[in-house]
Amino acid sequence: MKTNTEIQNAQIGTLIQEFTGQAVAFYDGMKEQPVCRPAKEATLEHLEKQTIPAEGRPVQEVYSEMLRDIYSNTILGQHPRSFSCVPSTSSLLSWMGDVMTGFYNPHASCQVNGPAAEMVEKKLINWMCSLAGYPKTSGGLFVSGGSMANLTALTAARDQKLTYEERSRAVIYVSGQTHASVAKGLHIIGFRKDQIRVIPVDSLFRMDITALRAAILNDREEGRIPFAIIASAGTTNTGSVDPMHDIASLCKEFDIWMHVDGAFGASALLSEKYREKLSGIEYSDSMSWDAHKWMLQTYSCSAVLVRKESTLVHSFAAHPEYLKDAETSEEGVEFWDLGPELTRPARGLKLWLTLQTMGSRAMGEVIDHGCAMAELTEELLQKTPGWEIISPAQLGVINFRYVPHGNTTPAEIDAYNQEISRKITESGFAQIYTTELNGQKVLRMCTINPRTTEKDICDTVNLLKQLASDENAEAVFGAKTQKEERCWHSA
Ligand SMILES: Cc1ncc(COP(=O)(O)O)c(C=O)c1O
Repeated sequence: MKTNTEIQNAQIGTLIQEFTGQAVAFYDGMKEQPVCRPAKEATLEHLEKQTIPAEGRPVQEVYSEMLRDIYSNTILGQHPRSFSCVPSTSSLLSWMGDVMTGFYNPHASCQVNGPAAEMVEKKLINWMCSLAGYPKTSGGLFVSGGSMANLTALTAARDQKLTYEERSRAVIYVSGQTHASVAKGLHIIGFRKDQIRVIPVDSLFRMDITALRAAILNDREEGRIPFAIIASAGTTNTGSVDPMHDIASLCKEFDIWMHVDGAFGASALLSEKYREKLSGIEYSDSMSWDAHKWMLQTYSCSAVLVRKESTLVHSFAAHPEYLKDAETSEEGVEFWDLGPELTRPARGLKLWLTLQTMGSRAMGEVIDHGCAMAELTEELLQKTPGWEIISPAQLGVINFRYVPHGNTTPAEIDAYNQEISRKITESGFAQIYTTELNGQKVLRMCTINPRTTEKDICDTVNLLKQLASDENAEAVFGAKTQKEERCWHSA
């Protein structure tokens, strides 16, 4: 006689098999799905009313309900025509790794708990450090994302460069394009807003070195302590790479910690063609690198890398008495000594599966493809009257906008582009969001998904043209277009 648990386990097994088959088919046919699948009001109302039941329900019922009400109502960030934010590039291989790791659920905090898993994660970290050009003293840790990687590195920077007494006089340099997670991280580790210097950027949205030097000199003169410069290797808005060599020289000259936020762009180190753009990253003290952005991983797979592993140990090792038996030795470094987490999943294993199966060359080609798709977008838009390139294709990101013919005001142009974004996203064909550059609303495309084809780009640009054309403005936006001026006014 089977127990109730055995019966339920068998049902769960059947559902998992059913789900796996459906998921692979869904992945293969994703292009036929709309990119955005918003939840219906009725679905949200139904979920809102649900509570945690005192008595459980049949798993089949909960499974079907969750598929219908939750998983079917998400934006498909991994859709080949999802171009907003940093779209997910997650692959089936990464998902498979997630499933395997999730099942065995290793407590990847120390060697004793899973020596082989730890060895594999360490090998990956060492490989990433060597791609960055870091020396043998380097090390790092897989963390949940770029925000955590930045926070972890900034903590090490603070502890290496400042005494407790000096913290209130310290200053940090970012650019106007630095990701918001840096300011968030600095707030968490105790710095005030007025301790962050926002350095202007040049026409390609890279940190202006002359302004940076002047700010450092000024701060020193006024008795403050410049302690960290945050260089971006691939900004979120424009894919720009800050001048690494110049920043490294300033850091050397003034004994400042150089952190590179490579959450988005560090993966370009894998590309024969684009690696050179990151030249100088090897001089940094720390960097963040998200595998869940451009290395085909499902979420929660990022690395914080440091030039000297000991700098992380200095900030994070705790050695509580209840973990003594699990420590390899007094001197041995465990993953729990390198970051804020104790219990952590073995985030690197899915990346290992992906890289072992694909090889690093194919991963480099993923980067080349993403960059080529942004370059193609730029080429197509340049050929079409009315479209302005605001930031050219850089590391798979391009920004542009449509300027209707006539006496259109800046506010109207902003509203017009906002409307194009809304329309194309609502159409379900492609997802394109706006951002702001030079005080203007612009359309931004991040084209890093390796399953995005040239046809996807051409079709998307064609749809953009159709939505934006002056002639269609009235029909598309329902706005009053004056034939002579061909100008669209926001409602
Ligand atoms: C340049 C950059 N840094 C940091 C982050 C934050 O990464 P995460 O969302 O993984 O925390 C992002 C996210 O898009 C980013 O583009």
